[in-house]
Amino acid sequence: MRVLAQRLVFCALLGSLYASCPPRCECSEAAHTVKCVSRELRAVPAGIPGYTRNLFITGNHISRIGPECFKGLDNVTTLSLSNNSIINVSLISLKPRISEVDSNTFSGLRSLRSLDLSNNQLAIIHPEAFMVQNHSLLDLNLSRALYNHSSVMDLATSLRWSSLGALRSLDLSHNGLIFLPSHIFSHLTSLQRLLLSNNSLVAIHNSSFTGLERLEVLDLTLNSLKAVPEEGLRELDSLPRADLLLGENPFTCTCGIESFALWLNRSQGRISDAESLVCAYPTGMRNTSMLSVVTLTLGCHQSGAGADLALQTSYVFLGIVLGFVGLIFLFVLYLNRKGIKKRINELRDACREVWEGYHYRFEIDSDPRLSQVCTSADI
Ligand SMILES: *[C@@H]1O[C@H](CO)[C@@H](O)[C@H](O)[C@H]1NC(C)=O
Ligand SMILES: *[C@@H]1O[C@H](CO)[C@@H](O)[C@H](O)[C@H]1NC(C)=O
Ligand SMILES: *[C@@H]1O[C@H](CO)[C@@H](O)[C@H](O)[C@H]1NC(C)=O
Ligand SMILES: *[C@@H]1O[C@H](CO)[C@@H](O)[C@H](O)[C@H]1NC(C)=O
Ligand SMILES: *[C@@H]1O[C@H](CO)[C@@H](O)[C@H](O)[C@H]1NC(C)=O
Ligand SMILES: *[C@@H]1O[C@H](CO)[C@@H](O)[C@H](O)[C@H]1NC(C)=O
Ligand SMILES: *[C@@H]1O[C@H](CO)[C@@H](O)[C@H](O)[C@H]1NC(C)=O
Ligand SMILES: *[C@@H]1O[C@H](CO)[C@@H](O)[C@H](O)[C@H]1NC(C)=O
Ligand SMILES: *[C@@H]1O[C@H](CO)[C@@H](O)[C@H](O)[C@H]1NC(C)=O
Ligand SMILES: *[C@@H]1O[C@H](CO)[C@@H](O)[C@H](O)[C@H]1NC(C)=O
Repeated sequence: MRVLAQRLVFCALLGSLYASCPPRCECSEAAHTVKCVSRELRAVPAGIPGYTRNLFITGNHISRIGPECFKGLDNVTTLSLSNNSIINVSLISLKPRISEVDSNTFSGLRSLRSLDLSNNQLAIIHPEAFMVQNHSLLDLNLSRALYNHSSVMDLATSLRWSSLGALRSLDLSHNGLIFLPSHIFSHLTSLQRLLLSNNSLVAIHNSSFTGLERLEVLDLTLNSLKAVPEEGLRELDSLPRADLLLGENPFTCTCGIESFALWLNRSQGRISDAESLVCAYPTGMRNTSMLSVVTLTLGCHQSGAGADLALQTSYVFLGIVLGFVGLIFLFVLYLNRKGIKKRINELRDACREVWEGYHYRFEIDSDPRLSQVCTSADI
């Protein structure tokens, strides 16, 4: 009797666990959906029914998630934890250390395909945070999700260790990323969409997008790219299938930008927003189409020739000035020709006097008798 009662209680508990809905959540068995939206929850609620495929726990104050939160939810394919204040993403799976490769220890979200962690503040991300047992994760949304730029190093590690070989879409927009750690995406071999819009990326390096052979869309709009130098262009060319979005970057249309502009013109076919790309600086060039810069910047080479021309011009000018000064000098001489003639005559007379005086002295000096007379006269 007691055993039966115990069994009944157990079954009732079990039944209520499966049939009921956690407090402050809305459950729909028909739609396999549970929603706990903006209910000031501080933790993932217990007792989420096993039929759940779509689980939305958004707009709450959850500050930590770990493997124990999702036990028994084998059927969940879509999980949104958007708009919480999560600072600590421990493990989504139950794989404590990489050395323990025993699949029996795994539990949790074995069917997860889509994980939305957008609008959070992820400060601590476990290296295997996004590890899903079946490697079934297809979409990962980390838009506006990183606490600060430092979190990107944690993220790079977890993208490497979480076996995301099946991932097709990664949204990293609105995260204030300044740079991409090298090889950050190199394990995401199936990735098709990579959204990096509204970050602060200043450069594309030769290992930024390694491994993304299947990429179809790369969104780099609203970043801080002033130009893309050769290294970055080669990197973008290494994504043969990808359509690129490059709008709303502060492109600086000075002489160095030519190779980038030529590349844009050449690659127009795969740059979805090529027509709308414009220069942001210098002010004189603002709003000039980047495609027209190709022809405009031919002026860069001419500016060298222009300098030579300026130099030549200055020589010619100097010549003219000197010639003019010479002419004025001659003209002044002409105007004073009478005075000059007089002066010359005076000069000639003076010379003659001097000459005659000299001649006279010479004659005296050269006559020994006369000089003797003089000397004796002195005595
Ligand atoms: C998951 O779904 C299957 C099929 O709908 C069902 O048989 C199974 O009981 C569900 N799992 C749980 C833990 O409820
Ligand atoms: C985020 O959640 C708060 C409540 O916690 C809500 O007021 C706000 O509208 C939500 N924002 C978004 C973008 O969902
Ligand atoms: C994050 O969660 C892990 C696992 O629960 C815990 O060991 C660690 O101390 C937490 N870190 C912080 C900063 O809360
Ligand atoms: C693993 O995922 C595949 C499809 O992605 C599914 O058919 C299979 O049932 C999953 N395995 C487990 C153990 O959930
Ligand atoms: C990611 O989440 C944000 C906000 O929740 C949403 O606007 C965006 O469309 C999502 N990204 C993808 C690829 O679904
Ligand atoms: C990011 O936040 C962590 C934790 O608060 C802090 O230690 C680190 O200095 C911050 N990094 C940046 C770049 O602000
Ligand atoms: C870009 O992201 C910042 C936060 O990092 C946000 O304040 C801003 O509104 C975003 N801009 C756009 C156009 O979405
Ligand atoms: C990438 O750049 C580094 C340093 O600039 C260089 O040593 C390396 O050879 C480059 N790799 C490729 C594939 O171009
Ligand atoms: C730009 O590309 C077009 C073909 O797409 C080509 O005809 C044109 O000459 C190119 N312009 C320059 C300046 O290279
Ligand atoms: C740039 O062009 C757009 C549309 O072509 C126009 O709306 C905008 O006012 C222009 N801005 C400047 C600074 O000329």
